[in-house]
Amino acid sequence: MDLINGNIFDVDQVNLLIHSRRSVYTNQFISGKPIPEEIIRQLLENANWAPTHKNTEPWRFVIFSGNGLKKLAEFQAALYKKNSGERYKEEKFEKLLKTPTECSHVIALCMKRSLDVNIPEIEEIAAVACAVQNLYLSACAYGLGGYWGTGGITYDEEAKPFFSLGEKDRLMGFFYLGFVRVPSPKGFRKPVEDKIIWVNQ
Ligand SMILES: Cc1cc2nc3c(=O)[nH]c(=O)nc-3n(C[C@H](O)[C@H](O)[C@H](O)COP(=O)(O)O)c2cc1C
Repeated sequence: MDLINGNIFDVDQVNLLIHSRRSVYTNQFISGKPIPEEIIRQLLENANWAPTHKNTEPWRFVIFSGNGLKKLAEFQAALYKKNSGERYKEEKFEKLLKTPTECSHVIALCMKRSLDVNIPEIEEIAAVACAVQNLYLSACAYGLGGYWGTGGITYDEEAKPFFSLGEKDRLMGFFYLGFVRVPSPKGFRKPVEDKIIWVNQ
């Protein structure tokens, strides 16, 4: 159904969805239980409707499931071992090997830089972040768990080719998805009143 702007949504439901969205971590998932592919496709469809300056649509997603999760796990653990130098910790290596296998799907969050459209990089990164919020909200609406993680190999330049990214593109982390075994606690935010300035004169 295509809808245009208008007061046709259940605003109470939308408000509830936004306030209920929580990060749900992989140790809270039903380990390895797969989410049906049609739901994953709907999450990605919703991500694709993020706002985008000059319609560059810079978000790209690489979706790992099944044996792909093991492939991701082995790649990131090996890259971490190779490049972490003195920062290397055996437990982090093991975590990188384990985390993807606890998920139904892991979505690599990527930004593809347009070479022919002159807009600041920050706006392309912001557009991808909007797409990720769509993923977050959609997962919540389906009763699924998920979170955006930026650890591990996220900022390792050498990781880019594995995700079909060029030099000017960015890996922005991973969205981990699974069925919820242990729900997250209620969220907390400092009052919005502390973060806003009204100018009305
Ligand atoms: C850009 C970004 C990066 C994040 N990276 C991580 C991360 O690496 N590890 C992690 O545990 N959570 C990460 N998070 C999730 C936040 O920890 C989480 O959103 C925050 O604790 C608020 O909780 P909520 O999402 O349940 O409201 C990230 C969130 C954002 C927006």
